[in-house]
Amino acid sequence: MLHRMRLLPVLAICSIFFHCVTNIGGVDGAKGLYVFGDSYTDTGENMHAPYGMTWPGVIGMGNRSSDGRNEVDYLATLFEVPSPTPWEHLDANNTNNGGVNFGVGGAGVTYALGYRPLAVQVDVFEKLVNEGLWTKEHLKHSVALVSIGINDYTTFNVNGTAEKVPALTTTVVDGIALNVFRIRMLGIRHIMVASLVPQTCMPYNTYWANNSTACIVNYMISNETVQHNELLENRMRLLNNAIPESSIIIINMTKAFEELFHNGEKYGFEDPYKQCCMGACGDTNTSLWTVCKDPTKSIIFDSIHPSQAGWKAAVDLYTNVSGYTVLGPKLSTWKSDHNL
Ligand SMILES: *[C@@H]1O[C@H](CO)[C@@H](O)[C@H](O)[C@H]1NC(C)=O
Ligand SMILES: *[C@@H]1O[C@H](CO)[C@@H](O)[C@H](O)[C@H]1NC(C)=O
Ligand SMILES: *[C@@H]1O[C@H](CO)[C@@H](O)[C@H](O)[C@H]1NC(C)=O
Ligand SMILES: *[C@@H]1O[C@H](CO)[C@@H](O)[C@H](O)[C@H]1NC(C)=O
Ligand SMILES: *[C@@H]1O[C@H](CO)[C@@H](O)[C@H](O)[C@H]1NC(C)=O
Ligand SMILES: *[C@@H]1O[C@H](CO)[C@@H](O)[C@H](O)[C@H]1NC(C)=O
Ligand SMILES: *[C@@H]1O[C@H](CO)[C@@H](O)[C@H](O)[C@H]1NC(C)=O
Ligand SMILES: *[C@@H]1O[C@H](CO)[C@@H](O)[C@H](O)[C@H]1NC(C)=O
Ligand SMILES: *[C@@H]1O[C@H](CO)[C@@H](O)[C@H](O)[C@H]1NC(C)=O
Repeated sequence: MLHRMRLLPVLAICSIFFHCVTNIGGVDGAKGLYVFGDSYTDTGENMHAPYGMTWPGVIGMGNRSSDGRNEVDYLATLFEVPSPTPWEHLDANNTNNGGVNFGVGGAGVTYALGYRPLAVQVDVFEKLVNEGLWTKEHLKHSVALVSIGINDYTTFNVNGTAEKVPALTTTVVDGIALNVFRIRMLGIRHIMVASLVPQTCMPYNTYWANNSTACIVNYMISNETVQHNELLENRMRLLNNAIPESSIIIINMTKAFEELFHNGEKYGFEDPYKQCCMGACGDTNTSLWTVCKDPTKSIIFDSIHPSQAGWKAAVDLYTNVSGYTVLGPKLSTWKSDHNL
């Protein structure tokens, strides 16, 4: 009843103004966050020290490939929902707790590293939707995050050659597009899709080549990122145009992390290209790794995963600064425009 009464004034305004694009149904804000991805998103991993050292501060209890929170936690905060339940902990009663995180560390769009890939994550979601775990209304007023692809490229890079990059980027981006389409058809209208991290600036590349002082110069890897992003923008634009009442937006991880690497000091990061944890981070033999004094001063925690501070800074850019999203405004505006 309350819901109906709150809708009426909005409907009245809509009948007066010709151009009414407001998502009327969203007046109560986002209902849940549904996440598909890799270790950049997974919140149900079994991690050992030093993961979790900043938050929750109890060694091994963070369940994330980070010294603390990851992008999912900050996006959940933005949309004022709890960090979604990791798929591993979903139970039959878990119907409206702020969504589900289907992300799996090591996952790709292809079976790059052998973990449950994007399509299989969406299969699980599809099965739960078909079982009626959520109402159509709930999904309509929810948000999805798709953040995947880096594992497909790092695996390819081991033996890959530049001539094979176009075929790979097409496979990866079309795989993302197909699954974004499926998520949309299953009822989620608002979908954030992350582009790639700037691979050439990541410590797993810069440590060996440049002692983590600057990005590397590598045609093949730069080309992957540029082509992936171009194709991703093209495909997401097509989906938005093809399916009415869709708002698929790209959060530009490439641009956000480039900004942080290049202007680290501005954001409080000392030695921005350096990772905090060195060695076999997470190994139970603690003499196989070392950790920096203050992870809040590092953008990247281990060689590939951002730190909690890195993720916070990136989500702040998507949220507050124009130009870090594509196909839609900064997230704070997107949220209010769509009543999320
Ligand atoms: C990590 O997982 C454990 C075991 O399921 C759980 O008790 C703990 O609350 C989780 N920690 C966080 C930060 O979610
Ligand atoms: C669901 O909730 C009921 C009642 O609280 C409880 O008995 C049951 O064990 C729960 N099911 C699961 C799978 O957690
Ligand atoms: C790279 O090539 C080597 C030698 O052919 C092979 O053993 C290895 O599995 C390949 N790795 C990947 C990730 O393709
Ligand atoms: C790499 O950088 C560190 C300082 O962060 C320095 O101590 C070391 O000598 C450098 N190594 C090389 C090979 O330049
Ligand atoms: C190391 O960084 C510099 C820029 O400071 C760049 O010119 C150089 O090509 C990089 N080295 C490699 C191997 O990419
Ligand atoms: C990437 O490589 C393809 C061919 O392999 C080429 O057509 C394209 O122009 C390259 N793009 C960039 C940005 O270098
Ligand atoms: C993201 O930002 C980069 C610049 O860092 C730009 O080249 C790219 O076109 C942007 N868009 C997408 C979809 O990645
Ligand atoms: C831990 O690693 C160190 C260094 O490689 C090694 O000397 C030590 O035996 C290892 N400890 C255990 C318990 O495996
Ligand atoms: C950006 O927005 C977020 C959420 O709205 C807020 O928590 C954060 O403090 C803002 N950051 C900056 C730098 O303004």
